[in-house]
Amino acid sequence: MGFFNWAAPLVRRFGDRFTELDAAEIAGWLKPAVVPGGRILDVGGGAGQLAVLLADTLHASVTVLDPTPQMLDHVPSRPGVTAVSGVAEAMPFADSEFDAVVVSDAFHHFRDQPGSVKEFSRVVRNGGIVLVLELDPTGLMMRLIVLGEKLLGEPGAFFTPAEMCAFMAREGIAGECESLRKADYRFLGVVQKSGEVA
Ligand SMILES: C[S@@+](CC[C@H](N)C(=O)[O-])C[C@H]1O[C@@H](n2cnc3c(N)ncnc32)[C@H](O)[C@@H]1O
Repeated sequence: MGFFNWAAPLVRRFGDRFTELDAAEIAGWLKPAVVPGGRILDVGGGAGQLAVLLADTLHASVTVLDPTPQMLDHVPSRPGVTAVSGVAEAMPFADSEFDAVVVSDAFHHFRDQPGSVKEFSRVVRNGGIVLVLELDPTGLMMRLIVLGEKLLGEPGAFFTPAEMCAFMAREGIAGECESLRKADYRFLGVVQKSGEVA
């Protein structure tokens, strides 16, 4: 049994940290690509707390993709939010199906990060947004968290903001990294499909 199967109740509780103010800020970053009625994919979206807030704030349709049934079972059943079982590295979606991908506190859990970024580029339309919210592993507290995750069998594959931007650029998504509160930072990139005009 994997970490998220047994730890789901704890992780679900932690996922309730998003406020309406957080959602408004995140929605503002996505707005250039997501009009009302647009489509967002929340990869590793867990129990869907952020998905619900984004669906309400942007009047968008949000799909939560996650491999852990103990998380997905708690995604509210309501209009505008859909739960789908699957992994970031091999998504069950058509090319260019979404206007934006959001990944919150999940990218460091993906076992094939380059493979997941290829999937972001495939399922997001040309000119769509990739937003990754992550934790900077610099500093004693974060180094202990990385060690703890590794001891629990998770990849703990964290990047600093500069490393994340360089990694995403190498994988074909140009964007910017900006530090937020405490160890949180965001990567905000735009998908450019070769031969297509955004
Ligand atoms: C710390 S939780 C974050 C949940 C939510 N995004 C949030 O911000 O509260 C990480 C989530 O990533 C999911 N996850 C782990 N490996 C994954 C993978 N390869 N593809 C997609 N999701 C994955 C886990 O099941 C878990 O729900």
